[in-house]
Amino acid sequence: MKGIILAGGTGSRLHPLTKITNKHLLPVYNKPMIYYPLFSLKEAGITDVLIVSGRGHCGNFLELLGSGAKFGMHLAYEVQEEAGGIAQALNLAEAFVDGGKAVVILGDNIFEDNISEAVEEYKNQESGARIFLKSVKNPESYGVAEVADDKILQIVEKPKEPKSDLAVVGCYMYDHHVFEIIQSLSPSQRNELEITDVNNRYLKEGTLKYDVLKGFWGDCGESFDSLLEAAHLIKGSRLAKIDDKLNLI
Ligand code: DAU
Repeated sequence: MKGIILAGGTGSRLHPLTKITNKHLLPVYNKPMIYYPLFSLKEAGITDVLIVSGRGHCGNFLELLGSGAKFGMHLAYEVQEEAGGIAQALNLAEAFVDGGKAVVILGDNIFEDNISEAVEEYKNQESGARIFLKSVKNPESYGVAEVADDKILQIVEKPKEPKSDLAVVGCYMYDHHVFEIIQSLSPSQRNELEITDVNNRYLKEGTLKYDVLKGFWGDCGESFDSLLEAAHLIKGSRLAKIDDKLNLI
């Protein structure tokens, strides 16, 4: 199973912090943001990882992370020429995934949970996709899943009137069919290829499964407050002490 970290985009919600540097290189407590998704993948045994970033920043990631050998990982890099959406960034990973399955993590998402168990479940899932949900205070800022009788009925991207408080967080597991889906999508009103449209397609095909996160989840790119909150949560959690596991020091 391969891993993909999406670290492109404009980071406009965090201006001026992101005017010069890339959002995923900003500090979150004691590490650059991208170390956390990198750790989540490594902890789940996924060491072959593609990092997709935007023009102008790719060299910074390479400088910071190199080949990944120091972390016991193998890192590859891809450039997204323009921020055309999460699904568009993911589409650049088609050759890397090479017909197999992949775990995709948004580079600004931080997971306290160990995702290994869900990854193992997905390995045994014949086909389709698997996502994670988390109960949040501000569902209108995220993709929101409407759930009844343990089944997802639909996912709506940033609904004005959310039908639940269950956010679809930025960790997705897909089979190779994801690329056919992406290539059939049209841009949304904000002119992006939406990951929510991808997930809704799997839902329609009856092959979308989900897990609910137990620990904290942070989307550091949502606002200055979410960035600050993530730093505070990390300070008191196991994520503050992953340095030796990632061999960072
Ligand atoms: O954090 C979870 C949320 O992420 C989900 O609940 C939403 O369904 C999903 O659309 C997404 O919402 P955001 O509005 O927070 O996405 P954002 O534009 O901040 O992008 C998230 C990450 O994806 C960002 O860290 C970098 C990457 N990205 C984004 C875009 C638009 C790219 O690599 N390329 C892109 O073109």
